[in-house]
Amino acid sequence: MRWRRTGYVAGAVLLAGVIVFAAIAWQPAIPPVKSPDIAITPELVSKGRTVVALGDCAVCHSPEGHPAFSGGLGLRTPFGVIYTTNITPDVETGIGAWSLDAFMRAMRHGVSRDGHLLYPAFPYIHYTKVTDDDLRAAYAYLMTQPAVHAPAPRNDLPLPLRFRPALAVWNLLYLRPGAAPALDASPRERGRYLVEGLGHCSSCHTALGIIGGESGRYLGGGDVDGWHAPALDVLAHAPRPWTVEQLSAYLTTGLASEHGASAGPMRPVTDNLGDVPPEDVHAIATYLMTIQTSQPPTAPKAGAVADASQLARGHALFDGVCATCHGDGGPMETQLGRPPLAASSALQGPTPRNAIMMVLQGIPWPSHPKPTAYMPAFADNLTDDQIADLVVYLRSTTSQPPWPDVRDEVRRARKDLSHD
Ligand code: HEC
Ligand code: HEC
Ligand code: HEC
Repeated sequence: MRWRRTGYVAGAVLLAGVIVFAAIAWQPAIPPVKSPDIAITPELVSKGRTVVALGDCAVCHSPEGHPAFSGGLGLRTPFGVIYTTNITPDVETGIGAWSLDAFMRAMRHGVSRDGHLLYPAFPYIHYTKVTDDDLRAAYAYLMTQPAVHAPAPRNDLPLPLRFRPALAVWNLLYLRPGAAPALDASPRERGRYLVEGLGHCSSCHTALGIIGGESGRYLGGGDVDGWHAPALDVLAHAPRPWTVEQLSAYLTTGLASEHGASAGPMRPVTDNLGDVPPEDVHAIATYLMTIQTSQPPTAPKAGAVADASQLARGHALFDGVCATCHGDGGPMETQLGRPPLAASSALQGPTPRNAIMMVLQGIPWPSHPKPTAYMPAFADNLTDDQIADLVVYLRSTTSQPPWPDVRDEVRRARKDLSHD
């Protein structure tokens, strides 16, 4: 008798659970449309072009070697590879049959037109804050791009994660849907809107928790693709403190005269920001300077001072391999007017990660039409020990304390890269 009752109760609880779960996980399909269901004007399209640049859509949806917006980029997450999809107006494989409502729902709630939930590798938790007007413009712009037939490759995920309805639970934790409140016109508020929404800066610059939600201090620094995305709330405490002007220059040209160049995953961000109105970039810089912590960050643990023979080895390697470009009076300084290497964030920062990644990966020839920098990748030509010697030597040319465990960090960086 008692067991039967327990059975009923357990059954009822389970059923209730299933119903609640189905209620949050199930989303209806939105009927297809034959053509865009809004009036598309040249002004709207031109505004949409800016919105799409500010949102970095092309970084993920227009990978090298693929037609614009046709997707196919494999995003490496700790859980497996998720491919970006086709957002050209192709009816069969893209978003050609999507109404504005379907597009808005995807951007705000992470739900595809047919009702399946989208993986948060697509930063909809940020795009949800974008205003109706901006989303409408992005829709108009995308709908006027050439349609490309390109089905998305199959994701490479472990079985439990292929069950998309489970994303409803993730959304309960991390998605706060809804557009940003009406903006006042100040650059600070415009900047905040762009940083939190379209720019999705915190998706890289905030540390992620074990299920991939942003859980560190907001903009307090994060790790992405083997690189360290530095804290953006301590820029005022840098050895050469950042200013609105330095930040604006960095974000639009990928180069700050006092801090060096953008590289790794930040490079496409600055390439995109080079295409948006300068007042928007200025607004982002203005906002960032208002969120600086009042206290300088606590200094990370310093490493042991390098012995003279390691410094000598690093110095000799630098003279042999790097000095043609970076040496005193070398072309970087004299012809390009770059700051000395010792001033760059890569060597001044709290971790050796970005200096190591720079040496391993270099800066590839830009696919972007703007003339930018090129540095060869040394991953195949220098050993871990040589890279460690170089990085330890270069750090000793700054006024910062030595980094700890540089050799281990080189090994870890290579390991991260070998997954690519
Ligand atoms: C960090 C990479 C990234 C960025 C940046 C990004 N997306 Fe995506 N997007 C994705 C991924 C990955 C998917 C596929 C998710 C899935 O299949 O679950 C996706 C899916 C979509 C979808 C749903 C398509 C479908 O068929 O269901 C739309 C619409 C979309 N993105 C639009 C945009 C727009 C517009 C922007 C710029 C404002 C943008 N994306 C920026 C990664 C990105
Ligand atoms: C062919 C020229 C060239 C060579 C050789 C070269 N680099 Fe670079 N390096 C660059 C360019 C260009 C940049 C981008 C910075 C810029 O444009 O100001 C850069 C950036 C860097 C940065 C980041 C600095 C910043 O401004 O953000 C580091 C660190 C670095 N290089 C280290 C090295 C080391 C170590 C070597 C030798 C193993 C080396 N480089 C060899 C051209 C070169
Ligand atoms: C795809 C990941 C990613 C996104 C999105 C991103 N960043 Fe970055 N960012 C990085 C990485 C990685 C670095 C370090 C690489 C470097 O210094 O070249 C970086 C460096 C920077 C720096 C230089 C900091 C320093 O101390 O040298 C600034 C400033 C910055 N990002 C601002 C922004 C802003 C503002 C946004 C949003 C509009 C943004 N980033 C979006 C990855 C990202």
